[in-house]
This record gives sequence, C-alpha cells and structure tokens, in this order.
Amino acid sequence: MTITKLVIASHNAGKVREIGELLAPYGVEVVSAGTLGLPEPEETGSTFAANAELKARAAAAATGLPALADDSGLAVDALGGAPGIYSARWAGDSKDFAAAMALVHERMGADPDRRGRFVCALTLAQPGGEVRTFEGTVEGDMVWPPRGSHGFGYDPIFQPLGHAVTFGEMDPDAKHAISHRAEAFRKLVAACFE
Ligand code: IMP
Repeated sequence: MTITKLVIASHNAGKVREIGELLAPYGVEVVSAGTLGLPEPEETGSTFAANAELKARAAAAATGLPALADDSGLAVDALGGAPGIYSARWAGDSKDFAAAMALVHERMGADPDRRGRFVCALTLAQPGGEVRTFEGTVEGDMVWPPRGSHGFGYDPIFQPLGHAVTFGEMDPDAKHAISHRAEAFRKLVAACFE
C-alpha cells in the first residue's frame, strides 16, 4: 500500500505535531482535520481503540483520503485506570492540564502505588472502509510536583520506568524513542508503510 498523503484526524496541535514528526521520514504529506475544518466526532467509544476507529472513519469518509487517528490517555492503577479515555475531558473545555494533573494527584492521595501508563491506539482508515488498529503503551510512575515544560498534557507528572526525568523534562526525541505513541507507530509503519 503506498500512502503519500493522509489526514490526521485530530484537533490537538500537540498530537498533530508529534505524529507529523514521526511520519516525516516516510515522505508522507500530512494535513490535519483541524486545518481542513472537519467537525470533531463525539468520542462515544468505551475503549481507546473504539474512539480511534470512529475518529479515523469519520475523517476518511469526509475527505476521501486515508485518515489516521490516535486515541490516547493516561491510566493510573491507583485510580482504577482513570482518567483513561477521559484524559482530555479531565482538563475541561479550557484544556487546563495544570488542573487535570492536580486532580490526578489529589485523587491518588498517599496511595503507595504510583504506577500508571500512557496508552495509545492508532487507527488507519481507508476511504473504502478498511480499518487497522495498532496499540502501544509506556509504563511509568506518577510524580508530584509536575516537572518540565516539554511535551503536552500529563507529561510533567509522568516519569517513565528506568528514567530519572519526566516526559515533561525529556527532549522530544528521547520521548519519541519510548512513548506509547511511538510504539503504536512502529507497529503501524511495519504493517502499512514498509
Ligand atoms: P484524546 O485526544 O482523546 O486522545 O486525548 C488524549 C489525552 O490524553 C490528551 O489530551 C492528554 O491529556 C493525554 N495524553 C495522551 N498522550 C499523551 C502524552 O504523550 N503526553 C501527555 N499526555 C498525553
């Protein structure tokens, strides 16, 4: 399958930038759903994969181009997997991630189990209806206070296992080497771009 142009079905500028960087070596031209003014479908799925699939299908149908959607989030063991698929929604309409990180910290309290993981489901949908979904995860510990100003979302309170810095403190290349999104991408690229 040769894909030269695809739509990234996301309105999140941080994600669009990261996905663009990850696909750059494959000579794929990317355009974002936000730039095209596509409506954002409601995320009614109960799993990361279901939400990635509905976003990718909607963008492929609207544009006639292959579409790539990611649904991702933070799952904290001490919170029974929350915020999970609600990770973006915990930040509210104003996308206040300082508040969302504070909420994670407050709800975890003094629980000795600090373990969590970022999860990413990545779906490539063809305009004809075919979909393929790939998943990646990265394990880490939740830290407080937040550290670092790189990345986005919950990066400043997530310290990947085996590292002494948070995703917020890592330079983007170091994060891309180990992130949940990078793992899902490696699987996608191996299956669809190589
Ligand atoms: P989605 O747009 O519904 O997939 O929302 C995913 C949300 O999960 C983002 O808005 C972030 O809050 C969080 N998230 C996903 N990936 C990352 C990451 O790499 N770093 C920090 N937060 C992330």
